[in-house]
Amino acid sequence: MKALVLSGGKGTRLRPITHTMAKQLVPVANEPILGYVFQHLEDAGIKEVGVIVAPETQEDVRAFLKEGKRWKLKVTYILQDQPLGLAHAVKTAKPFLGDSPFVMYLGDNLLAEGIKGYRERFLEEKLDAFLFLKEVDNPSSFGVAVLDKKGRITKLIEKPKNPPSNLALVGIYFFSPRIHEAIDRIKPSARGELEITDAIQELMNMKGQVKGHKLEGWWLDTGKKDDFLAANTIVLDDYVKRNVCGQCDAQSQIIGRVSLGTGVKVVNSTIRGPVVIGEEAEIIDSFIGPYTTIGPHTRVFHSVVEHSVILNHCLIENIPRLEDSLIGRESRVILGQKQSKALRLLIGDNGVVEV
Ligand code: TTP
Repeated sequence: MKALVLSGGKGTRLRPITHTMAKQLVPVANEPILGYVFQHLEDAGIKEVGVIVAPETQEDVRAFLKEGKRWKLKVTYILQDQPLGLAHAVKTAKPFLGDSPFVMYLGDNLLAEGIKGYRERFLEEKLDAFLFLKEVDNPSSFGVAVLDKKGRITKLIEKPKNPPSNLALVGIYFFSPRIHEAIDRIKPSARGELEITDAIQELMNMKGQVKGHKLEGWWLDTGKKDDFLAANTIVLDDYVKRNVCGQCDAQSQIIGRVSLGTGVKVVNSTIRGPVVIGEEAEIIDSFIGPYTTIGPHTRVFHSVVEHSVILNHCLIENIPRLEDSLIGRESRVILGQKQSKALRLLIGDNGVVEV
């Protein structure tokens, strides 16, 4: 069985971070989301992966996946010129997929338990589609499925006004090659995309076997800032182990599950886990509170930071309290020394400042 990882798209909801970075490479606990996806595929025994890439971000995606050759997966890159929908991505990948069954994994989705074991179930039951589902509070924002008692999907609707169930489609799908025929039969939706939900509905019309599996563990779609911070919180909770290998002076306290990268310097500061701090970062006269990720080479001076993600090479200086924040690479957040009510800002396109 092959895998198809979708790492194209525009990432509009995570702007401005995604103006300069592929959404799938934004790090959660200092590991790009795509890294978790690849680990899950390798753990599930997949050997061959096609990666859908967009013209704007393909170089960075390729560079990350080649870096350190961490996975034993054979990777083929497939350029999708425009993000014309998930089913369009499958269509673009047809020469790579051939007649093979495959698992499609959206490159910005994270789940607790991985996909180990489900490939076997999909193949044994000779299904045409096997979808992962998760109970959500706001089904109107998702593709929604109705399941019968035998786990068969009887209905699929994209972002329904009156949802017939609270089961959202998670971004992981197993397909038999019949999905290609279904995709050839559908037309673009009102938003101009070839929708995978329409293709699966068509597969059901073609009497294909379509089943769903309800996930018990967490699932995170990292599309928006708050979802992204929630992902960081959950991943820090689940994965961080105490690893204090940097230099900490006698005035500093490192409490709980804190992971410090190599060369991290902590001076006269308190760090209360779960927290991950990337290599060569400096924390001086500061408090870093729970659920914070600090990227490599970032410096935090005389500040308090909590429940935030700060990417690499940033400077945070003299900030009395920074929380619920997502700060892009090489940014500086500084409170001037003089007591002044004036704000002096240099904010990129789509920036958000809450004072
Ligand atoms: P979305 O998050 O639905 O799309 P997007 O990346 O364009 O994001 P936004 O809504 O914020 O603008 O896509 C889910 C995943 O699939 C994501 O990893 C991007 C990828 N994708 C493609 O590779 N090709 C496509 O044509 C689309 C629509 C998405």
